[in-house]
Amino acid sequence: MPLADRRPLRIALLGCGVVGTEVARVLTSDAEEFARRIGAPVELVGIAVRRAGRRRDLDVPEELFTTDAMGLVTRGDVDVVIEVIGGIEPARELILAALEHGASVVTANKALLAEDGETLYEAAAKAERDLYYEAAVAGAIPIVRPLRESLAGDRVTRVLGIVNGTTNFILDAMSTTGAGFADALDEAQRLGYAEADPTADVEGFDAAAKAAILAGLAFHTRVTISDVHREGITEVTAADVRSAEEIGSVVKLLAICELDAEGAVSARVHPAMIPTSHPLASVRGAYNAVFVESEGAGQLMFYGPGAGGAPTASAVLGDVVTVAQHRLAGISGVGESAHASLEIVPIGRARTRYHVAIDVDDRPGVLSAVAQAFAAHDVSIKTVRQEGHGGDAQLVVVTHEAEDAALSATVADVRELDMVRGVSSVMRVEGVS
Ligand code: HSE
Repeated sequence: MPLADRRPLRIALLGCGVVGTEVARVLTSDAEEFARRIGAPVELVGIAVRRAGRRRDLDVPEELFTTDAMGLVTRGDVDVVIEVIGGIEPARELILAALEHGASVVTANKALLAEDGETLYEAAAKAERDLYYEAAVAGAIPIVRPLRESLAGDRVTRVLGIVNGTTNFILDAMSTTGAGFADALDEAQRLGYAEADPTADVEGFDAAAKAAILAGLAFHTRVTISDVHREGITEVTAADVRSAEEIGSVVKLLAICELDAEGAVSARVHPAMIPTSHPLASVRGAYNAVFVESEGAGQLMFYGPGAGGAPTASAVLGDVVTVAQHRLAGISGVGESAHASLEIVPIGRARTRYHVAIDVDDRPGVLSAVAQAFAAHDVSIKTVRQEGHGGDAQLVVVTHEAEDAALSATVADVRELDMVRGVSSVMRVEGVS
């Protein structure tokens, strides 16, 4: 049967911001190409928006726009719903209603997936429809599909990601210019890389949601954002960035998902020093990258733009093609894989290395007292050096791998020592083999 004679696949779009506009633009302007790739014509049947009558830079019939999102997803003849509204509600109730009414769903909603992915997955399984979300993690970078499908026959042991472009831009600017956090944030806002309210990015919430999704996929275990330890970059100083340089490293905000020796999962987001020789150290500006370690494949890195209209729309549209093909074939694709149900451990049980800068009196016995505090908690010192002298003396300690709780207890004891004026910085060191 000629393509044009086939029943069109009906697509509804929820949200028409930067990403939604680009999705609608490409879907309509490249409709013939999409029809060939999918095997049937596609028809955009409605675009749900918050406010009617707003001027949009989009060449589609005005009657496609509606403020009745629920009416659009429940009309009963929609094959694929694309959700790019974001946030928890009304996105959750719209996605659930879409699935109940027979549509497959493509979403970019990291916050919802990280908070309540379980409900969405269960609804998709019950409806025998697809729930695809490549755009929810790291924008255009294919990482969800590789974890869900390409690596399904392997055993992933660690995922290290730079999954927030705003913070990577700020940290990169601090490293390049020597600026402090506040100045680098100002510059990022001026250039449009940071929002007017940058909290979700700079406090690590955005990265923590992505870490929860990555950890769940990597370890076949339900992980929510509340399982992810989160520290942002607001406390990172120009001195931290210089200290990183002293040990041949750069500071990055990392999402780290790993299996420990006992087979338990930890997921954390925090600034960390990584050696300049590590592939993630070369990720500059607002770019994202995800570094995956697995038993079979070894080390893999996925790199690219993690935000923006066209890059995010690329990921959304890739999912649209796949779920549309599934609809035509009468099948659904990969669902939730949480059978391993591994223990998720708190940050105290995570093991890594640390860089600790301690302001001390410059006199005999200080090094020995500090070293004893580390030894008392079984934290082994790899290197120690003194910076400055007299009133400016600082001991910079880099440890071997230790438990996070042991390091915290060490730092608490070090702060109590008479000859210690303060602990000016504690930063984890990652990516050291
Ligand atoms: N605000 C995010 C970033 C993109 O800066 O990478 C959307 O998750």
